[in-house]
Amino acid sequence: MSQTAVTPQNIVLIGFMGSGKSTVGRELHQRLGYPLIDMDRCIEEAMGKKITEIFKEEGEAAFRDFETLELLEISKNTDENQIISTGGGIVIRPQNRSLLRKLGYVVWLHAPEDVIYDRTSRNQDRPLLNHADAREKITNLLAEREPWYRETAHLKIDTAGLDSSEIATGILESARYYFTHSK
Ligand code: S3P
Repeated sequence: MSQTAVTPQNIVLIGFMGSGKSTVGRELHQRLGYPLIDMDRCIEEAMGKKITEIFKEEGEAAFRDFETLELLEISKNTDENQIISTGGGIVIRPQNRSLLRKLGYVVWLHAPEDVIYDRTSRNQDRPLLNHADAREKITNLLAEREPWYRETAHLKIDTAGLDSSEIATGILESARYYFTHSK
């Protein structure tokens, strides 16, 4: 007898740079045992270059194309449940927003602007913020992207004052509810 196809119970993390997606992704991976797909790391492996080099040598538009291709590739895996941690700009393209909604339970990690600035200014690995006016850039990008995060997410978590373990607990409880009631 053939097996009935089951929709995978993926958890997808979206949010601005420095909002904690990778850390929370690792926490969820440890608790659930699902594979963790960190999209930026996958793109770096596929291209054999760091994100900063891709931006510098090929440009942002090329990076966005790789990002969409990666998302299409991930969407093909219907065999297992996954935790998917995305790059902060994944929501720019309408095509990506609709792919993300179909991929699983989408959680928007929201952090205060001060926290984002503090975390992202600690290293140079985010090409969009490697400028003297990084603070202004963050303000502008946040204003532009927040409606897209809102539109794409099933759940928004205000992470201020919460550690990654508490955030993961909140996600797991609401994801369980979602997957039980969305059939
Ligand atoms: C980007 C966010 C980065 C990375 C790239 C572009 C963005 O990922 O994809 O530097 O446009 O917000 P993180 O959100 O993991 O830093």
